[in-house]
Amino acid sequence: MEQNNFNITFPEVNDAHQGTGEHFFIERDGEKKKIIYHDYDKIYSIPGLYEELFYDKLKCDSPAVVAKILNDFIKDSPIETSDLKVLDIGAGNGIMGEELKRIGAGPVIGLDIIEEAADSALRDRPEVYEDYYVADLMDLEYKDEKSLEKADFNCMTIIAALGFDDIPPKAFAAGFNLISSPGLFAFNIKEDFMDNKDKTGFCKLISKMVDEDILEIKKRHHYRHRLLQDGTPLYYYAVVGEKKRDIPESML
Ligand SMILES: C[S@@+](CC[C@H](N)C(=O)[O-])C[C@H]1O[C@@H](n2cnc3c(N)ncnc32)[C@H](O)[C@@H]1O
Repeated sequence: MEQNNFNITFPEVNDAHQGTGEHFFIERDGEKKKIIYHDYDKIYSIPGLYEELFYDKLKCDSPAVVAKILNDFIKDSPIETSDLKVLDIGAGNGIMGEELKRIGAGPVIGLDIIEEAADSALRDRPEVYEDYYVADLMDLEYKDEKSLEKADFNCMTIIAALGFDDIPPKAFAAGFNLISSPGLFAFNIKEDFMDNKDKTGFCKLISKMVDEDILEIKKRHHYRHRLLQDGTPLYYYAVVGEKKRDIPESML
């Protein structure tokens, strides 16, 4: 897509705490506006702003990193990338979808909780998604639930969207249960959410899924997800795994 140069600045005092509090300023038509990172609707509504903020200024490269790890795993397995039918959850304006198509995935279907994400994906990357759901996985409308179940996905991806008031463990579990068994999944997650002191519930859920043979982690890669606005690196894990069976209701 076309590159713009927005006049992006960050607050002078780095009061930004990773995640929900972070904000930046953008100057357009002589007006300076404050935007919080989580105001995705506002960010997506300006073409190129999401890319310039997260990818150019804050050096995020997670979609490419996770797609590479998924592809490396597939190369050493009997699976063909073109056989993947992927549900990309928290798809935003389609950067992960684009990476999935780059590695040769079959149909990719996007899902996001806000309408602006679907609109911007269609606007910026119209060739990527075969379909795009605007839906809340924890409260699916009947017709979406039936059509997602019928789609028979064999792979799920969730990039830069777990935790931090984005996708909670229950929605992650609901997405996981929408893919077939065996199936593949690939996601990235903040390093702290994978350690025993984690309070978000992700570490507990994922550990339990491994212990109960619901999933097998195939690759786990520690890497720099992006920078904080003062230049501090923010580390994540990229994870690729194989789904063995659904998460039972009793575990949620
Ligand atoms: C940081 S963006 C990541 C977008 C894209 N995956 C990427 O890597 O560029 C997080 C996305 O997750 C979406 N999101 C947040 N909560 C969600 C939920 N409960 N269900 C689905 N999507 C959600 C947001 O609307 C936003 O588009």
